Amino acid sequence: MKEALNRIREEAIQAIAAADSENTIEELRVRYLGKKGELTAILKQMGSLSPEERPVLGQLANDVRKELDAKITEKTAVIKQMAQDLRFKAEAIDVTLPGNRPKIGARHPLEKVLDDVKEIFLGMGFDVAEGPEVEYDHYCFEMLNMPKHHPARDTQDTFYINENVLLRTQTSSVQIRTMLNQKPPIRIISPGRVYRVDTVDATHSPIFHQIEGLVVDKGITMADLKGTLEEFIHKLYGKEIGVRFRPHHFPYTEPSAEMDMECFKCHGKGCSLCKNEGYIELLGCGMVRPEVLEGCGIDSSVYSGFAFGVGADRITMMRYGINDLRVLFENDMRFLEQL
Ligand code: DAH
Repeated sequence: MKEALNRIREEAIQAIAAADSENTIEELRVRYLGKKGELTAILKQMGSLSPEERPVLGQLANDVRKELDAKITEKTAVIKQMAQDLRFKAEAIDVTLPGNRPKIGARHPLEKVLDDVKEIFLGMGFDVAEGPEVEYDHYCFEMLNMPKHHPARDTQDTFYINENVLLRTQTSSVQIRTMLNQKPPIRIISPGRVYRVDTVDATHSPIFHQIEGLVVDKGITMADLKGTLEEFIHKLYGKEIGVRFRPHHFPYTEPSAEMDMECFKCHGKGCSLCKNEGYIELLGCGMVRPEVLEGCGIDSSVYSGFAFGVGADRITMMRYGINDLRVLFENDMRFLEQL
């Protein structure tokens, strides 16, 4: 019996040492110390021993039980600790690593330029006016001295919704809306989307953007127009950029002009950017015709005004050196992320 106890002890100690999971160690506990375990089985045989042997072997059996119990408890703690260490290792977070930055995006280049333009004109005392993109023919053409069948309408191929309603071809309609709603002095710019029937290519799009400007007050002259627009270009592109005015025709202004700015690449010498012109066409402008003022209930013998319309896409393209209009609308991240 003594040998049996020692054998069980040896065996159990080895098995406990080799155990590597909570399950295995629990199995060992049941196998050696459980009610139906090997040690219990031996203890049950105590009755058959002589009275002298009984206390000696009883003592030994008890010692073995205590020893194994202690070893199992100890090993269980070690295994639990190991499992916890492993879990902690797997779940560990390196708090010194940079976090995942959420992509918050950025303002579109066109919006940035519009912001700059607004800033410049707000600084000169202008307000920002808004008008609808779905507009009456009356405001978009008629009241701007372009009655039905006026040839000047041909230059603005129009999306008509019905005979009287259209997608505005120019922000000039906001001039009319402003003058109908507000008495002079008027000083507004109105940036916005405009629409014309056009096939998309590098310089054309059926949707583009304009910034309209209108000033009406007593004693406004062409000098105010030139001074204001020159200041605008200098603020946007720098003082060294010259401008020039060319006579032109618009039905709602007289005299009318187009303003060009010196090519910022060659400074007037002529290069590929300005197609050897030295200048880049930028905007239409002129002195508001008395008929247009009167049509809006403004006394043209007291008040005069000037107006202009700038292509916002064009100034954005020049600002960022973009040579294809389409990239402004296509939402290609490879382009947008460069700016
Ligand atoms: N509306 C014109 C266009 O779309 C631009 C323009 C020219 C606006 C002269 C004006 C102006 O206000 O006075 O081409």
